[in-house]
Amino acid sequence: MLDSHDHSDRIAEILEAHQGLEGPLLPILHAVQEAFGYIPEAAVPQIAKALMLSKAEVHGVVSFYHDFRSAPAGRHVLKLCRAEACQTMGADAVADRIKKALGIGWHETTPDGRVTLEPVFCLGLCACGPAAMVDGRLVGRVDEGVLAEVAK
Ligand code: FES
Repeated sequence: MLDSHDHSDRIAEILEAHQGLEGPLLPILHAVQEAFGYIPEAAVPQIAKALMLSKAEVHGVVSFYHDFRSAPAGRHVLKLCRAEACQTMGADAVADRIKKALGIGWHETTPDGRVTLEPVFCLGLCACGPAAMVDGRLVGRVDEGVLAEVAK
């Protein structure tokens, strides 16, 4: 995605705020994502330079951790649990129906920018599976009805 905004001033502030911290990369990346909703591509060389790391090292960390996005999410983020306990409760079939209803796959956003669909691996709600998280809120025993919550 073309990143037309210049985020460098805000990123410089974030870098400054984390100066002297031991192991600062993850807190910096969290702060950048908090500020913009994702990690802008241009942030990678700026962070790498400030921390005296290579761009590849920073990029590797960004892509290793699924919590970091490389593009802005939709207005709603629907996370569906894909781990064992939820699978035994039919999570795969529910996920298939939800993907079909939305017309998107994992890590994708509907063309109208309404919903981003993400897999998650256990939300600690194993007794009430299939579990989901809608905009940060936990939901148990989900089926396609959960789509009503992301209809706007
Ligand atoms: S396995 Fe789905 S919440 Fe734990």
